[in-house]
Amino acid sequence: MTTEPQGVLIVDLGTQYTQLIARRVREAGTWCQITIPEKALETAAGMNLGGLILSGGPSSVYDEDAPEVPPELLELDVPVLGICYGMHWMCRTLGGSVVPSETREYGRTSIRIMRSEGLFAEIGGHTVVWMSHGDSVERLPEGFETFAESEDCPHAAVANGDRGFWAVQFHPEVSHSVRGREVIDNFLGRICNLSGDWKPGSIVEREIKKIHEIVGEDGEVVLGLSGGVDSSVAAMILHKAIGPRLHCIFVDNGLLRKGEREAVEREFAQHLGMDLRVVDAGERFLGKLAGVTDPERKRKVIGYEFVEIFREEAKAFKNAGYLGQGTLYPDVIESVNVHGGNTAVIKSHHNVGGLPDDLDMELVEPLRELFKDEVRVIGRYLGLAREIVDRQPFPGPGLAVRIVGEVTAEKVSLLQEADAICTTEIEAAGEHQGLWQYFAVLLPVQSVGVMGDNRTYESTCALRIVESSDGMTADWGYLPQELLQRISGRIINQVRGINRVVLDISSKPPSTIEWE
Ligand code: XMP
Repeated sequence: MTTEPQGVLIVDLGTQYTQLIARRVREAGTWCQITIPEKALETAAGMNLGGLILSGGPSSVYDEDAPEVPPELLELDVPVLGICYGMHWMCRTLGGSVVPSETREYGRTSIRIMRSEGLFAEIGGHTVVWMSHGDSVERLPEGFETFAESEDCPHAAVANGDRGFWAVQFHPEVSHSVRGREVIDNFLGRICNLSGDWKPGSIVEREIKKIHEIVGEDGEVVLGLSGGVDSSVAAMILHKAIGPRLHCIFVDNGLLRKGEREAVEREFAQHLGMDLRVVDAGERFLGKLAGVTDPERKRKVIGYEFVEIFREEAKAFKNAGYLGQGTLYPDVIESVNVHGGNTAVIKSHHNVGGLPDDLDMELVEPLRELFKDEVRVIGRYLGLAREIVDRQPFPGPGLAVRIVGEVTAEKVSLLQEADAICTTEIEAAGEHQGLWQYFAVLLPVQSVGVMGDNRTYESTCALRIVESSDGMTADWGYLPQELLQRISGRIINQVRGINRVVLDISSKPPSTIEWE
């Protein structure tokens, strides 16, 4: 008998929303895993399975290259929720029929709930949902009934309640489906009878147990601490598990935000009493970056140097056979690649998770099964300082990718000052709520200004204020005019070397969030 928490298996059939489904399930306090159809039976066998969700996907069940889903999934004796393509596959496999819809339904649609039971318990009447389909179910399999309809889709939700088979044409996982969260909660709570006990306390306990299993009674772990949320929370969990047998290395690459190194030392060494080794490598990084202006080259130089330094420093811990990393679940999920081919490299991302295999250390990854929002929740639960838990994402190459052109010590210090003003003013005004990132960028543009009676010829800084939910797409964020005035006034008056501030009003795509 497995000691795993009881959970749901989500089979990815190619939709872009699979991770969203998993996040909704986790938010409801239920443990879940994502897998591809080929591995679904094997993964289900290794879980304490309480239910199954079959995701949507871009294919038609009649396509030659449609994902092949093992029909045995419907014989696992657990409730199943099929969403869009998952619905089509389920209904067709059980003897129903699926046809191309006469009218394609995309986006916001109103459905009428005909029976407020099961998936729709306490949800009745009309509700707005998000649709995105070309096919729809025409003839129901035996034992199925219709629970909801829309104008163009007579079977918007169907079920065989006795067998626990439910299927919806709409996407309950997206926030545009107004009662979608309740639909998922009903599936988990009322249909699967899952108790919603996947909470920070049990997550931490489970990870600590796994760490003990890996490192044993006397194993020692080295962890690269970046000061970002992921490595910080990984350090907290590891420290709770093995105390002084955790050794953290923090590389100060001279490209950090103002006060960042001090905040890390304060929190981890002084407050939490961890063994923290701070490597003062600013000059070394700046030396390697001298004359480098190409953004990709900068990223490569910094990534390489980081690995070299980490390798050298890790040698000091001779007994440490384990390497801690803050790898997250989205980095390890296997997904169905429906489009094939390679995606273009826009930027070569670097973070401390990207250490090479040849360090010859066994990996310990306490966040490997968690999403970013869960990591923050756990950070708060473990009492990690707010300034670290709520920190904005910060690129591994640091301020180097926010200084357009060559990086020098003078430019770093100009940008640190301007950025600190931008950040503190936005936070003091409470305008950071709802923003993904807000920072300053130093441009290789000098312009003429006048201060008192004197002419100035100094640098320009741009403010980058963005809204986003995952960094993949973003829009520029709106700030009140008085706040922008205050930020610009303070930067120009207080940062010697900057005499002009501009506002970046570009969305991603086609721009990116960082300038390099
Ligand atoms: P872009 O500039 O690609 O950034 O639109 C998307 C998000 O990723 C962050 N970013 C990085 N994060 N290592 C990281 O860990 C990196 O090298 C890196 N580059 C960009 C960026 O801050 C934004 O949130």
